[in-house]
Amino acid sequence: MAFPQQVRIVEVGPRDGLQNEPGPIIPTETKVTLINRLAEAGVRHIEAASFVSPKWVPQMGDATAVMAGIDRRAGVTYSALTPNVKGLEGAIAAKASEVAVFSAASEAFTQKNINCSIAESLERFVPLIEQARDAGIRVRGYVSTVLGCPYQGEIDPAQVAAVSRELIDMGCYEVSLGDTIGTGTPLKAKKMLEVVAKEVAMDRLAAHFHDTYGQALANLYAVLEEGIAVIDSSTAGLGGCPYAKGASGNVATEDVLYLLQGLGIETGIDLQAVVDTGHWITRELGRHNGSKVALALGECRR
Ligand code: HMG
Ligand code: MG
Repeated sequence: MAFPQQVRIVEVGPRDGLQNEPGPIIPTETKVTLINRLAEAGVRHIEAASFVSPKWVPQMGDATAVMAGIDRRAGVTYSALTPNVKGLEGAIAAKASEVAVFSAASEAFTQKNINCSIAESLERFVPLIEQARDAGIRVRGYVSTVLGCPYQGEIDPAQVAAVSRELIDMGCYEVSLGDTIGTGTPLKAKKMLEVVAKEVAMDRLAAHFHDTYGQALANLYAVLEEGIAVIDSSTAGLGGCPYAKGASGNVATEDVLYLLQGLGIETGIDLQAVVDTGHWITRELGRHNGSKVALALGECRR
């Protein structure tokens, strides 16, 4: 199969990246600046915040203030993660352009992450999706642990397909397939996607790969060949998952952009501007920059 001509990047650094930062709470202003810089760089879809319990994820406790602080650019989707109706209400009040719900292909992971079974998590989404529809807000769905679970180990692709199908049937416009702990390898990713694509059309699927084992770019290449045209990534490879021990950040946006440029695939994003943003945010956080491309290109301070 031919590669797509264009790929939509969903930048998840401000949410998936920052939610897991250890240490002191990151100032709201820093989060706002990160989001604004990414939008200026040409990113058209930014997961900006998470309306979850601050007891569970303290770094996202200022979601309302973050959403209020950003400069809204025309044509940019500012989405928010919402685990339940309470989260949705917060996201609507904060004028999120879109929300995302999350479940998993693993029972054990779902228990640890959102304190309920897969079936219960899907039930919680019924009123959420209904209310979002009434408010004119699109809902994206995540399925975590699609290529392995920290508690359960191997995951049957048929289970990934079933949960993905359910999310689409419930009203999600797209399902993002999360290799939460980054244990996947290209052949496994390809085979999983083939099974899922029998239940959900390829143009409604996205890849959300963490880079724990350094396989994320190879896995992305494999699923691009299969027809995936939406990729979630995180500037400077920020992040991890608080409920998946040892999980490192998402694949770095800079590295994905470089790969896509080499394949002649359009994204509309200025690579150097994202590289500069990655260097700036890692300085602010006092952490290592997880993008090899960013380290190779260096910072261009204008
Ligand atoms: P629970 O304890 O089962 O729920 O948590 P509860 O309904 O009993 O509520 C407990 C407390 O949380 C109550 O407060 C609620 O008001 C409050 P209290 O009475 O104790 O003071 N609460 C909320 N507060 C703010 N916003 C809300 C909200 N809901 C309840 N929306 C719950 C259930 C889902 C809320 C909890 O488990 C939670 O927030 N978990 C966080 C999960 C999370 O954020 N995980 C990380 C994101 S998922 C991810 O990273 C994976 C992904 O990237 C894909 C991949 O990589 O695979 C998406
Ligand atoms: Mg994630």
